[in-house]
Amino acid sequence: MSEILRLGVNIDHVATVRNARGSAYPDPVRAAKLAEQAGADGITAHLREDRRHISDADIEGLMDALTMPLNFEMAATAEMQAIALRHKPHAVCIVPEKREERTTEGGLDVARDDNRLAQFIAPLRDAGCRVSLFIAADRLQVETAARIGAQVVELHTGAYCDLHYEGRFDERDAELVRLRDMAAYGKSLGLEIHAGHGLTYDTVTPIAAIPEVIELNIGHFLIGEAIFRGLTPAIAEMRRLMDEARK
Ligand code: PXP
Repeated sequence: MSEILRLGVNIDHVATVRNARGSAYPDPVRAAKLAEQAGADGITAHLREDRRHISDADIEGLMDALTMPLNFEMAATAEMQAIALRHKPHAVCIVPEKREERTTEGGLDVARDDNRLAQFIAPLRDAGCRVSLFIAADRLQVETAARIGAQVVELHTGAYCDLHYEGRFDERDAELVRLRDMAAYGKSLGLEIHAGHGLTYDTVTPIAAIPEVIELNIGHFLIGEAIFRGLTPAIAEMRRLMDEARK
């Protein structure tokens, strides 16, 4: 059908379990290596300002151990920019971050913060990182992302997934139309299109079937599912569903 669809496995919540006991295990780097064997194309890790899951040492460990690309998720702060410039990961995905939120609740307001973000991403691009902006499926946000020099947008699928599990299927389908339209629009502007947040076996298929989307980043569900199936089979099943959707 279309271009290959990559799977980035987000290993943040392996660190969440470790940190719940302040222990040395389970080790996110070990999870990342298993993910590679299970069919992941990359690893995603979010170094939050409060270090509630991934730590600075985890980023160092991942940079040393991985043969796959690391997608480093971070807020647009000077501290995070310095860390990214020190490690030069393959990719940087800029996300909005509020300390009180449980997870990344919405997309970046690129349109409101365009000048600052343009200046923020320039040195990251110059350092060779592929810069992605995590945004809602909104025309103005897509346009602004392209205008300020992002190479990638990651479309936030959280609202689509929440609407699915709340049984609000008409609204879910309307959000899916927006995601499809903005994937096509973004690609027409020269952006590479990724998607992620909240995806599960129940919700991944329509997103994986969007032809312009070439990478999905999935974490929380997979780490939870690993409790029941093991990490390798949990990832392999997601990979299978993605491949099936793409046929
Ligand atoms: N993509 C981005 C930009 C994210 O911030 C996250 C969560 O850290 C994900 C994907 C993965 O979301 P989930 O853990 O819900 O699969």
